[in-house]
Amino acid sequence: ARPGALPRDLEGLHVAVSAGGTREPLDPVRFLGNRSSGKQGYALARVAAQRGARVTLVSAHTADLVAPAGVDVVRVGTAEELRRAMHEVAPAADVLVMAAAVADFRPVSLTGHKIKKTDRDPDPVALTRNADVLAELVERRRPGQVVVGFAAETGDEGGDVLDYGRAKLKRKGCDLLVVNAVGDGKAFEVEHNSGWLLSSAGAETPIPHGSKAQLGAVLWDAVRALVEP
Ligand code: CTP
Ligand code: CA
Repeated sequence: ARPGALPRDLEGLHVAVSAGGTREPLDPVRFLGNRSSGKQGYALARVAAQRGARVTLVSAHTADLVAPAGVDVVRVGTAEELRRAMHEVAPAADVLVMAAAVADFRPVSLTGHKIKKTDRDPDPVALTRNADVLAELVERRRPGQVVVGFAAETGDEGGDVLDYGRAKLKRKGCDLLVVNAVGDGKAFEVEHNSGWLLSSAGAETPIPHGSKAQLGAVLWDAVRALVEP
């Protein structure tokens, strides 16, 4: 093999990865968004393709990233569009990875025209909940299908990053959960990530500080072990 070439151990698998941050429009020129760069999801998609998987990348808004070679990219804007794209690909996919930062809320109403400034304070923006795409994918999971979630946690007086990760894994019911520590310049908009990989079987693997591709290698190894016949 070529030096540094990755094993083609994901050959025959169709994986769908969501990436980036959704944007929820308020009016034709404004939206509620988040700081996700999409780098982690793109790195996962790239590594999976290099290891031989067929990859569908459902991409919400990202930094200026190059689409990985050999990957099908489906572009979406809102959480609802991302939800539809994931449900469309899910029945044919062996592995579903929700690396996207999906907005939890959206404005109740989309104003058809630009909201104009007046001489008084504006009304508060009323928000409503978006569907939890990961929870829905878990609910509709086919036998043998592997579902992976991500959690970005800061920890607070109620618990640390790992406590919140464990609770989220239980609540979401996915097979694997990547828990990233965020805040203080960690994880968002940077090249490196660290954290834990938690499995529903109880395994807790520390992910050493490294590139987002290295995190991808750890995750795809774990996925590979789960889909082993
Ligand atoms: N997720 C999703 N749909 C949503 C919100 C989140 O599919 N509407 C997915 C994310 O892609 C991620 C996982 O759920 O894989 C965890 O997201 P996170 O924001 O950490 O969890 P929440 O359940 O939204 O809880 P909170 O934001 O309150 O921590
Ligand atoms: Ca959330």
